[in-house]
Amino acid sequence: MKLDGKTALITGGGSGIGAATARYMAAQGTAVALAGIPAAGIEEAANDIIAKGGRALAVTTDVTRESDVQAAVARTVEAFGALDVVVANAGVQRHKTDRNLFEMDEAEWEKTQDVNLRGVFRTCKHGLAQMIEQGGGGSVIIVSSITALNGRTPNVSYMTAKSGLLGMSRHIAVHYAQHGIRCNAVCPGALEQTPDWGDHPDPGGRESAMVEATPLGRLGTPEDIAPWIAFLASDEASFATGGTFVVDGGITIS
Ligand SMILES: NC(=O)c1ccc[n+]([C@@H]2O[C@H](COP(=O)([O-])OP(=O)(O)OC[C@H]3O[C@@H](n4cnc5c(N)ncnc54)[C@H](O)[C@@H]3O)[C@@H](O)[C@H]2O)c1
Repeated sequence: MKLDGKTALITGGGSGIGAATARYMAAQGTAVALAGIPAAGIEEAANDIIAKGGRALAVTTDVTRESDVQAAVARTVEAFGALDVVVANAGVQRHKTDRNLFEMDEAEWEKTQDVNLRGVFRTCKHGLAQMIEQGGGGSVIIVSSITALNGRTPNVSYMTAKSGLLGMSRHIAVHYAQHGIRCNAVCPGALEQTPDWGDHPDPGGRESAMVEATPLGRLGTPEDIAPWIAFLASDEASFATGGTFVVDGGITIS
C-alpha cells in the first residue's frame, strides 16, 4: 500500500482498533498522531511505535472538547508538516446504562452521542479544515459499526450514533470530493473486546452468542480491522469514496 510519507491523525489511538491501525500504518511509513485519552494509554502506544522505528506522536485529546480536537490537528501539523489522513475512531459503549430507551434520561443518551457522534463531527470538522487549507486532498475514515446495519445491540444511543456516522461519511464524500478529499466508513463486526469491555454485564454470554452468529466462527481482533482502514487511507483506494466497508466475519448477512 502507498502509505509512506503520509501523516495520519487517529482518535482513540491508545488501544484496540486505533492502536492497531497506528502500528500498521506506521510500519508502512506513515507518521501517526495518536489522539485520545487517557494520556498514559496513548503515550504507551506512541512510544511502542517509536521504539520500533516508526514516527508517532501522542496528543492527549478528549473528543468531547472541540478545543482539544483543534489543538490535536495543529500539533499534528506542527510535528509532521501536514495532515493527509483522519481516522475518526474514538468511541464509548456504555453497556450497563445505554439500554432501555423507554426509561432512559437524556443525560445518559447524550454521553454516548457526545463521543461517538459529535466527537466524530469535531474530528472531521477540524481535519477537513486543515486538508482544505493545505489544498492537496486527503482521506477520512470513520469507524462506525455493524450495529449501524442491524437492530441487534441493546445499546440504543450507541447504534443510533453509529448509524448517523454513515450519513456523515456520505455527506463528506459528496461535498468534499471537489477538494480531493475522500471519506469512507468502516463497520467492524464483533471483536474479542468492545469499548469499555470491563463494564460488559455478560462477556461470556456475548462471546458465545457472537461466535455462533458469525459464519467465520470466531470473534474479530483489532488487527483484522486495521488493514482495511489503512487501505482506505492509501493511494490504491483513490477511487473509493462514500463507501461502507463491512468487516465482520459474515455476521451482518447471515
Ligand atoms: N470492538 C468491537 O467489537 C467494535 C465493533 C464495531 C465498532 N467498534 C468501534 O471501533 C472503535 C474503536 O473501538 P475498540 O474496539 O478499539 O475499543 P477501544 O475501547 O480499545 O477504543 C476506543 C478508544 O476511544 C477512546 N476514547 C473514549 N472516549 C474518548 C474521548 N472522549 N476522547 C478521546 N478518546 C476517547 C478510548 O480511551 C479508547 O482508546 C469505536 O468507535 C467502536 O465503537 C468496535
